[in-house]
Amino acid sequence: MKQLEERIRREGQILSDKVLKVDSFLNHQVDTELALEIGREFARIFADRGITKVLTIEASGIQFAMAAGIALGVPFVYAKKKKAVTLTENLYTAQVHSFTRQETYQVSISQNYLGPEERVLIVDDFLATGAALVGLVDIVKQSGARLCGVGCVIEKSFQEGRGLLEECGVEVHSLARIASMAPGRVTYVSELEAEPAAAGAAGMDGAGC
Ligand code: G4P
Repeated sequence: MKQLEERIRREGQILSDKVLKVDSFLNHQVDTELALEIGREFARIFADRGITKVLTIEASGIQFAMAAGIALGVPFVYAKKKKAVTLTENLYTAQVHSFTRQETYQVSISQNYLGPEERVLIVDDFLATGAALVGLVDIVKQSGARLCGVGCVIEKSFQEGRGLLEECGVEVHSLARIASMAPGRVTYVSELEAEPAAAGAAGMDGAGC
């Protein structure tokens, strides 16, 4: 998604070769029009899958799951990280180990809101190590629902998340795929994929073809 890639370049702060701060427009302050456009993009990508529910995890996945839900015309549900006193019914739960925070926590959703008849799209803001998303995949499996795909806003393709999800047989679409980061420089997978074609075209020109 070009608009998103450009915005990350303009406003993202690269804190290290692994950590990108995007809290001026994505996951602290939220550019609402961009969030809605992200939702529409997920809806376009997964249009033919008959999605009946969008699933995410609190906190920063919520705005994008809501936007995707609006665009698809379906509800979204989010997994909670702490057990609320009001969550008294039966739950699906999964253990998530956050490598970023070096802690293991339990995520849960009520069994009332996910069942075998659902066709689920999982949405989240970041795909990094994939720990949280693998937990959500596990919850979908427990529910007997059909997992139709995972949509992530930003994927750090140099981390293992995509590989882990694909090993589970999950289709992953990310709107901005970062191949590498260094202070002041972000390289997208889309640019690396474009390069051989560009080089080929240059080669042809050089040969006078
Ligand atoms: P994940 O790939 O499944 O998201 O799991 P991981 O354990 O790698 O990431 C832990 C948390 O750190 C996640 O948020 C994830 O969104 C966030 N994160 C990972 N890499 C980056 C990064 O480069 N920049 C930013 N801003 N966040 C990153 P979370 O624990 O679910 O917290 P929340 O913010 O959604 O509440």
